[in-house]
Amino acid sequence: MNKILIMGPQGAGKGTQAEILAEKLKIPAISSGSLLREEIATGSDLGCEVTKFTEAGTLVPDELMVAIIKKRLAQPDAVNGWILDGFPRILSQVELFLNFVQPTNVILLKLNDENSVERLSGRLQCKECHQGFQEKFVPSKTHPFCDVCGGELVRRSDDTPEIIRQRLQIYHKETEPVAKKFEDMGILSRIDGSGTIEEVAELVAGVFVTN
Ligand code: AP5
Ligand code: MG
Repeated sequence: MNKILIMGPQGAGKGTQAEILAEKLKIPAISSGSLLREEIATGSDLGCEVTKFTEAGTLVPDELMVAIIKKRLAQPDAVNGWILDGFPRILSQVELFLNFVQPTNVILLKLNDENSVERLSGRLQCKECHQGFQEKFVPSKTHPFCDVCGGELVRRSDDTPEIIRQRLQIYHKETEPVAKKFEDMGILSRIDGSGTIEEVAELVAGVFVTN
């Protein structure tokens, strides 16, 4: 059973590649950030609490994050495996996570900060179907609307230069040691995330062909 983590800096393509791999392996792609944004969209008390952190580009407290992930992985669609993007991203979360699940593979998408900022500055998402676009690299033919469903394209509120810098800083300080931990466990594959979406997808798929 595939229990796959996708890690990498902001804009490395975690969400993009998780969706492509999920389609190939016929398992769900689960994004910690998307789970939080869905909770915020409900307007619940939990969502209001979470917004304080996501809007500032800082990490949501571990207990809260672990509870949300645990609940999602227990859903029926995840019984035959899953791909999880964005969690765990700090060593304390790794410890809590390994108490209830053992991942089989960890993919680390590598990208330098300059490219991260460039990609995120032009990221757009459909308000209705959540399809992702990028102004320069993955433009919508019907901009500012979605090619798939005609919905309005919007920017993520944490994709401003200042918040992107804050998120990258936390990545380098808190999340890089997480990659080292999985490397020591012998389950980490480092993948160059700087190519086109198709090129990166091929490199990612290669990890599973050889396994
Ligand atoms: P999250 O939503 O996970 O954001 P992130 O880690 O900052 O990552 P991104 O979603 O920005 O990047 P991505 O790698 O998914 O890139 P994408 O595929 O979209 O987290 C948001 C917030 O939630 C955090 O800041 C935190 O507050 C909270 N949070 C989440 N997890 C948490 C946790 N575990 N603990 C505590 N708090 C947590 O691609 C980016 C763009 O580039 C897109 O426009 C795409 O179309 C384009 N693109 C992708 N690949 C390519 C390519 N190869 N070439 C050109 N363009 C490309
Ligand atoms: Mg993402």
